Amino acid sequence: MRVTTLNILEMKQRGEKIPMVTAYDFPTAKLLEMAGIPIILVGDSLGQVVLGYESTVRVTMEEMLHHTKAVVRGTTNSLIVADMPFLTYQTGTEEAVKNAGRFLQEGMAQAVKLEGGLKTAPAIKSIVAAGIPVMGHIGFTPQSVYQLGGYRVLGKTLESANEILSDALAVEEAGAFAIVLELVPDLLAKFISSKLSIPTIGIGAGLHCDGQVQVLHDMLGLIEDFTPKHAKQYALIAVSIRQAVESYITEVQRQEFPTEKESFPLTPHIFSQLTRQDKPLEEE
Ligand code: KIV
Repeated sequence: MRVTTLNILEMKQRGEKIPMVTAYDFPTAKLLEMAGIPIILVGDSLGQVVLGYESTVRVTMEEMLHHTKAVVRGTTNSLIVADMPFLTYQTGTEEAVKNAGRFLQEGMAQAVKLEGGLKTAPAIKSIVAAGIPVMGHIGFTPQSVYQLGGYRVLGKTLESANEILSDALAVEEAGAFAIVLELVPDLLAKFISSKLSIPTIGIGAGLHCDGQVQVLHDMLGLIEDFTPKHAKQYALIAVSIRQAVESYITEVQRQEFPTEKESFPLTPHIFSQLTRQDKPLEEE
């Protein structure tokens, strides 16, 4: 039985912190679930960490659906939340509902995530009214990176902190079951978390959110030359991968791989028959 949005709400009520992490493929999703993660986000960070795009803006519906399906196939217990890509919910509530529905019908996810506060609230309301659980996402919203002028912490002034608070209240009022707070000062995140009955899931938002989310590639150290300040490297997989492939190259070049252990024997009897028939075949 999968974790439900109600279970997530109950975790906040019990004061139990909610870990969430991103995944984009079948084997990784399987590992995350085995580790016991309650929520997996198929983030549109896919564009940057898997597809090599400059930002999340280029990510399409088809790309998100393709990866969402793979993550769902790798899991049976975790709640799968799929990110709605740029311009799939900003252009009208009807289109927003249709696209959100595709993530449940085709992608087999259990919920969607949308960026934006007050401005996105009408889309959230319509999607929720259609029976689709929504996770909000406010503070720094990566799909607006070009408008926001780069990756930065928001909510440092009273005016901006109040805007983010209003966004949070609007998203809750619209019916979201949880809300991501990205790149906001820790005390603002703490205050918002205390004002909302739905859980806040922080990334670069300090310790006092109801949960935390990390981009998998950041926390596993899969991209050696990039670790954002808000991320912690729990492993340095990039080095292990590089070293493993270097060893493979060396062993292939030195003819040390494959050994008998990785090969399949042919009986001497068949081999001798094979080589004996060799000559007549050539003469044909
Ligand atoms: O796309 C993503 O990975 C996200 C997280 C940063 C929350 O939206």
